[in-house]
Amino acid sequence: MSKIKITETCLRDGHQSLIATRLKTCEILPILSEMDKVGYHSMEVWGGATFDACIRYLNEDPWERLREIRKIVKNTKLQMLFRGQNILGYRHYADDVVEKFIEKSVENGIDIIRIFDALNDVRNLKTSIDATKKHGAHLQVAMSYSISPVHTHEYYVNLSKEIEEMGADSICIKDMSGILLPYEGYELVKEIKKNISIPLELHTHSTCGIGEMLYLKAVESGVDIIDTAISTFGGGTSQPSTESIVKTFEKTKYSTDLDFDRLKKIADYFKPIREKYLNEGILNSKSYFINPQIIETQLPGGMISNMINQMKAQGAEDKFDEVLKEIPRVREDLGYPPLVTPLSQMVGTQAVMNILSGEKYKMISKEIKDYVKGLYGKPPSSINKDLKRKILNGEEEVLCRPADLLENEFEKFKKESLEFAKSDEDILSYILFPQIAKTFLEKKYNQNDNQVININLEFD
Ligand code: CO
Repeated sequence: MSKIKITETCLRDGHQSLIATRLKTCEILPILSEMDKVGYHSMEVWGGATFDACIRYLNEDPWERLREIRKIVKNTKLQMLFRGQNILGYRHYADDVVEKFIEKSVENGIDIIRIFDALNDVRNLKTSIDATKKHGAHLQVAMSYSISPVHTHEYYVNLSKEIEEMGADSICIKDMSGILLPYEGYELVKEIKKNISIPLELHTHSTCGIGEMLYLKAVESGVDIIDTAISTFGGGTSQPSTESIVKTFEKTKYSTDLDFDRLKKIADYFKPIREKYLNEGILNSKSYFINPQIIETQLPGGMISNMINQMKAQGAEDKFDEVLKEIPRVREDLGYPPLVTPLSQMVGTQAVMNILSGEKYKMISKEIKDYVKGLYGKPPSSINKDLKRKILNGEEEVLCRPADLLENEFEKFKKESLEFAKSDEDILSYILFPQIAKTFLEKKYNQNDNQVININLEFD
């Protein structure tokens, strides 16, 4: 048993979960030198939805944000969340793009890359794993945690062993919906730790009111690292609060040794910023409502509010409870995919269509069709036979690694973006989000010609 290490998530998951990823770089930079002195194991600052949000909502270059953070954070490891073959977007990208993205992430300052696949299909992780190794970052592979007849302890133990064999430096149990029950977590951590020799990290959310208890039990059970967010951006749909966890283990053999006075300063720094987002209506007080129902529906926090809006727009709010009941049925039909991006959205939307059209699978989204054809990878369990027959309609199922069907695409996008992309980073932004990145880059380089020259010098 040893001291617990802390990954601080407020600059990625914390604000992604509570204020729709709206923290601006200028709100992040002033506190970084304090954060750098706390003694965190790492700081998660990039990836996930931050990349998309920077370009789409903040008119900011995510690559520049990373470089600015790196300039100030000199001692603490910087971590990012990476969606395997989906990178930070929502489709499968070709291998050359995945590799290039990892190369540039490391070059711009990332130390630890947490990679996951929604389906836990390790074939979808292969390219990112190899690229992370090649470019010298710490390789952490995360297993999407889910509850279903196939997601047993044995399933996760076997998956952990496979991940260790693939060369991971550490493993994370990614409980994105905050549904891992404390005693369940205690046993799961114990069994995984028995079977692997690399560090084990645990990631949860406080959404269901059990996250703090889970951390207590998991620490007692031997987990090495846990994810927390500074209180100002912790709790609710975010991670358990850093200070609360630090205090919990103080003066015990698990003590984190983090500088508590600095934590207070950091929490205070973010208070007026949180207040501003609360007043603007971006921070919704509902994000702090405890929602244990999710333990059964397994929908991640943000997904519920999205679905309510989706149904409001169709004037069908009254059918929301029916949709909630439909979700587990759709999930079963699809072979129990874990409900994490992009599958949470896909399953949710299909459940809405099943209820609103009044007939199951009368309408099927393109994404669900692709999933059933095997284009997202191997489902955890078998897909409903009738649904599969209906969708395949005589076509052959894809059994290979989905990315094997994709031609390299970096050069093609490079040619397309000659007019507005000035660096490999720009091209990668364009590949992930073609429309919005094009508009963003055109605006960025037209604003200030001097800037263009600087960027060329610095990065080509
Ligand atoms: Co999370």
